[in-house]
Amino acid sequence: MEVVLRNLFQALGKSRSANRLAKKYGLHLGAARFVAGETIMQSIEAVRSLNQDGRVATLDHLGEFVSSEEEALHSADMCIQTLDAVAASGVDSNLSLKMTSLGLDISKDLCMRSMRRILDRARQHGNFVRIDMEDHAHCQISLDIYKELREHYDNVGIVLQAYLYRTVQDIKDLNSLGANLRLVKGAYKESEEVAYPHKRDVDENYKQIIQMHLANGNYTAVASHDEAIISFTKQFVSEKGISKDRFEFQMLYGICEELQKQLVKEGYRVRVYIPFGVDWFGYFMRRLAERPANVWFVLKNMLK
Ligand code: FDA
Repeated sequence: MEVVLRNLFQALGKSRSANRLAKKYGLHLGAARFVAGETIMQSIEAVRSLNQDGRVATLDHLGEFVSSEEEALHSADMCIQTLDAVAASGVDSNLSLKMTSLGLDISKDLCMRSMRRILDRARQHGNFVRIDMEDHAHCQISLDIYKELREHYDNVGIVLQAYLYRTVQDIKDLNSLGANLRLVKGAYKESEEVAYPHKRDVDENYKQIIQMHLANGNYTAVASHDEAIISFTKQFVSEKGISKDRFEFQMLYGICEELQKQLVKEGYRVRVYIPFGVDWFGYFMRRLAERPANVWFVLKNMLK
């Protein structure tokens, strides 16, 4: 049953018509638990509230299925406005973005131009931008763009996914760039040809890449709610004498709040990924696919 639900949510997350339908109904269906709101100001308020107990944030303006240059440029403008709003409000947050929302599927050049615009503005504000990793079809091009940008910008990082077979090699390749990486298990439906099908293998690979990147001395964001992975990281850094300013834990808005606060109390840096915007459906479906038990929240909200 769990597998059926997982596949269903992953397929819905990719469906343009389901996305369009959901947009019409606003932040309902329980999505508000995972998405901070539809406007920049709502997202800034969410950051402010987390900052009060010592958590920092990364804001993500949600945008999926961008199919025209106009939509792609609008997404880039939203990223820039978000960076401006962070600077003006004084909250502690950087920015995460998906390059398909900047028109990567339309043209690499369009996406590159917007990336430069966003990174220039982030640099003016002394801020940092993280490129989220999308499905395997976008992995190589995302890394190519990242490497190109890295030649001119030191305020950009990217994400690698433990479920892909290629990731150990990518960690090795990116070492010479001193890459700032967010390491995750991986959220998309991938074939066995490119990704480990079993959770056990994903978890083992995850531990391996965490160790490698930390041992290489590169800044590492361990983005997981898995307590075994978090304990593993704590133990590894303590054994190797890696200081707490060389890494951070990251979690998603609305998930494992108590654990986030506990880690802050223990003196770790904790960054919360805060998505916002009207295009929340695909993100919401990926969160349901990760944990079909979340469906219960959806049902409760629909019955209210
Ligand atoms: P795992 O799935 O094993 O879950 C461990 C435990 O965490 C669960 O038992 C449950 O208690 C809790 N949990 C996990 N997911 C939950 C959920 N949705 N609802 C409620 N509880 C949940 N992926 C990607 O492909 N590209 C990316 O760029 C990113 N970016 C990113 C940023 C940040 C800050 C995070 C935390 C995650 C991502 N991800 C991502 C998603 C990531 O790949 C992965 O799908 C999720 O983090 C779930 O995996 P866990 O490591 O939490 O472990």
